[in-house]
Amino acid sequence: MAIIRAAALLVLASSVGVSGVSRPAIDSYDYIIIGAGTSGLVVANRLSEEASVTVAVIEPGSDERDNPNVTTTVFGTGLNTPVDWVYSSVNQSRAGNRAFDLHAGKAWGGTSAINGMTYIRGNVAEFDAWEELGNPGWNWNSIFGYFKKSEKYTIPTDSQLAAGATFESQYHGFRGPLHVGYTPALKNGSFAPVVRDTWAGLSVTHNPDLNSGDVRGYGMGPQTLDAALNMRWDAARAYLHPAEHRPNLKVLKGTVKRITWATGKHATGRLVADGVEVVTDDGKSTVLSAKKEIIVSAGALRTPLVLEGSGIGNPRILKSLGIETRVDLPGVGENLIEQPSHFLLFSGDLQDSSASAYHSYVTIADLFGADVAAVEAATRANIPKWAKAAADASGARSLDACALEKVLKIQHDLLFKHNVTAAEILLAIAPDNVLASNYWALFPFSRGSVHLKSADKINEPLVDPRIFLADFDLSIMVAAGKVAQKFWLSEPMKTKGTVIGPIVPEEVDLPNNATNAQWQLYLRDTVVANSHPTGTAAMMSRALGGVVDPELRVYGTANVRVVDASVVPLQVSGHLTATLYGLAERASDIIKRTTH
Ligand SMILES: Cc1cc2nc3c(=O)[nH]c(=O)nc-3n(C[C@H](O)[C@H](O)[C@H](O)COP(=O)(O)OP(=O)(O)OC[C@H]3O[C@@H](n4cnc5c(N)ncnc54)[C@H](O)[C@@H]3O)c2cc1C
Ligand SMILES: *[C@@H]1O[C@H](CO)[C@@H](O)[C@H](O)[C@H]1NC(C)=O
Ligand SMILES: *[C@@H]1O[C@H](CO)[C@@H](O)[C@H](O)[C@H]1NC(C)=O
Ligand SMILES: *[C@@H]1O[C@H](CO)[C@@H](O)[C@H](O)[C@H]1NC(C)=O
Ligand SMILES: *[C@@H]1O[C@H](CO)[C@@H](O)[C@H](O)[C@H]1NC(C)=O
Ligand SMILES: *[C@@H]1O[C@H](CO)[C@@H](O)[C@H](O)[C@H]1NC(C)=O
Repeated sequence: MAIIRAAALLVLASSVGVSGVSRPAIDSYDYIIIGAGTSGLVVANRLSEEASVTVAVIEPGSDERDNPNVTTTVFGTGLNTPVDWVYSSVNQSRAGNRAFDLHAGKAWGGTSAINGMTYIRGNVAEFDAWEELGNPGWNWNSIFGYFKKSEKYTIPTDSQLAAGATFESQYHGFRGPLHVGYTPALKNGSFAPVVRDTWAGLSVTHNPDLNSGDVRGYGMGPQTLDAALNMRWDAARAYLHPAEHRPNLKVLKGTVKRITWATGKHATGRLVADGVEVVTDDGKSTVLSAKKEIIVSAGALRTPLVLEGSGIGNPRILKSLGIETRVDLPGVGENLIEQPSHFLLFSGDLQDSSASAYHSYVTIADLFGADVAAVEAATRANIPKWAKAAADASGARSLDACALEKVLKIQHDLLFKHNVTAAEILLAIAPDNVLASNYWALFPFSRGSVHLKSADKINEPLVDPRIFLADFDLSIMVAAGKVAQKFWLSEPMKTKGTVIGPIVPEEVDLPNNATNAQWQLYLRDTVVANSHPTGTAAMMSRALGGVVDPELRVYGTANVRVVDASVVPLQVSGHLTATLYGLAERASDIIKRTTH
C-alpha cells in the first residue's frame, strides 16, 4: 500500500477535459472513506477485496502500529497523548457547570487504538429496536452473523477459566480478522470466587457469555486483543494491515473539510457527490475525486461536522456558519446520546494482581425493586417534558419534540417492557490494590448535540452532551452507584478483600449511608462522560429526525453514506466496538450490493 501525502496528489500538469476546457487532473478513486477509524477500516478492507475497485481512506492520524501506548493491553495509556483528540464539551449546567473531556482516537484504527478493548455486544431487543425506528432489515438476527464474521475468538486457557473467564462457543466467530480473547495477565487468582459469592448475595446472577444477546448478570468480558501476543487488536491490525499489500487501497494523510458536489443532480433529484476537499498538515487544501461513493466514518463527534461543511444540515445553523444549504436535514449533529459515567475507589487488598475486569449489568427492576411500577409510570409521564427540553435546548428548531417523544418511548419500552439492562458496573483491581468500580447509565433520556464551531474550525466540534438534562439519568446513576458501593462493603468481599473503605469519594463527601440527595449532589460535581457518543447522524426515518436511511445513505444524496457510531440511533448495553464491527461488516455488504 502506498502512503501518499494528499498534497502531493494534486498533479499540476493540465489535462484536457471533455468540454475542451483545460483543468488540473486530480487523483480519483471509486470510493473515498473519510476516517481510518474503527468502522471506516472495516469498509475499506471489504470494498477493496474486489481488485478492480479503488479505495482511498483519508485520515489525520498516523500509522501507530509501533506506538507502545497503542499496542499495550493496559487501558488508559494512550489517553491524553497525541493519539487522543480529547475534545472538550461546553460547560454542563446540570453537572457542576464543568467542561467534559471526550476522548476519541486520532490514529489508524481511530478510537479502537485507545479504548478499553472490552468486547460486548448488547441485548437482542436493543438491536430489534433499530428496525422499529424505520430501518427494515436491521435487527439482532441480521447483524448476528456479521458479529461472528468479524470475530476471531481465542478460547480461554484452563487457568483463565479458573480465574473467572466463561464462554459459550455458539456465540463466537473463529475465522474473522478481529482477535477477541483474554489477556495472559488473567490467570488463576483469588478474585473470581469472591466476586461470585458477593454478587450472589446481592442477587446478581452469573452470565456465562456476555455476547449471547442477553447481558444481564455479571461476567468477565473478553477484549479485542491477541491473547498470544498480549497485544491490542485495533481496527488497523484487524482490517488494514492484512490488506495493505493491495494496490487498490491507499491511506492518505489529511483531514476532510467537505464533500464536493457535481453540478447536475441524480435522476431521483438527489445530490451527487464527486469528491472531497482535504486539508493537509501544512494547511493546504486539495481535492480528490470519487467516481462511485463517499463513506463518512469520522466518528460521532466529527461526522456531523463533515456533513455540515458540505451543506447538509439545519439551514439556520448552516446560514450562521456562512455555508450554503444543499440538503435541509435538521437531524445532523442532533440526537447525541452520551452516557454519564462515575468512579468509586476503595482501599483493600485482594492479594491478586491477575484479575481482569468484571462487568455487571442490571435492569430497572434490579435497581428499583418494589418501586419499579411507580418508576415506570413516572418516567413515561415525563417523556414529553424531556423531549421538549431537548428540542428547546437544540435551538434553531433542529429537533422536533414530537419525533423525539416517539424515539424516547421506544427506549422506554426497551427498559420497562423488554427489561433490557439499565446500568453497567465495571469492577477492576487498579494498581496498588485499589478496588475500583466504574458505572454508567446505559440509556440516558437526555439528548445533546454537536455542530461545527465555525466553517474553518474543522477540528473543534462544538459539543454539548447535556448531561442530566433528563433528571431520570441522575436517578439511574444514584441507584447504580449504591449497588456499586454496596458490592465492596458486602461479604465475602469486605473480609476477603480486606476492604477498609472508600478512597474516592471520601466518607465525608459521600458516606456509606448517604441519602439520595447527597448522592445527587456529589454526582453532579464529579460525573464524567463515558466517551461512548452515538446518534449524531442517526439511522432512522427522516420523520423521526434521522440522517441516513437503512442503506446508510444520507437523505437527499445519491452516493454519500455514513458508517460509524453516528448512525447508531439508540445506545446499546454493550461497549460500542463489537456493535460497530458488526454494523460496518453489514454496511459493506449493503454498499457492495447497492452502489450504482
Ligand atoms: C476512552 C475510551 C474507552 C472506550 N472503551 C471501549 C471499550 O472498552 N470497548 C468498546 O467496544 N468501546 C469502547 N469505547 C468506544 C469505542 O471505542 C468507540 O465508540 C468506537 O471506536 C468509535 O468508532 P467509530 O468508527 O465511530 O469512530 P473512530 O474509531 O473514532 O474513527 C473516526 C476516525 O475518523 C478520523 N477523523 C475525524 N475527523 C476526520 C475528518 N474530518 N477527516 C478525516 N478523518 C477524520 C479520526 O481521526 C478517527 O481516526 C471507548 C471509547 C473511549 C474514548
Ligand atoms: C506515550 O505516553 C506517554 C505519556 O503517558 C508520553 O510521554 C509518550 O510520549 C507517549 N508516546 C508516544 C509515542 O506518543
Ligand atoms: C467552564 O468550566 C470551566 C471548568 O471546567 C471553568 O474554568 C470555566 O470558568 C467555566 N466557564 C463558564 C463560562 O462558566
Ligand atoms: C488454581 O489455584 C488453586 C489454588 O491455588 C488450585 O487448587 C487449582 O488447581 C488452580 N487451577 C488451575 C487451573 O491452575
Ligand atoms: C419484564 O419484567 C416484568 C416485571 O417487572 C414482567 O412482567 C415482563 O413480563 C417482563 N418482560 C419480558 C419481555 O421479559
Ligand atoms: C449516617 O451515619 C452517620 C454516622 O453513623 C450519622 O451521623 C448520620 O446521621 C447518618 N446519616 C443518615 C442519612 O442516616
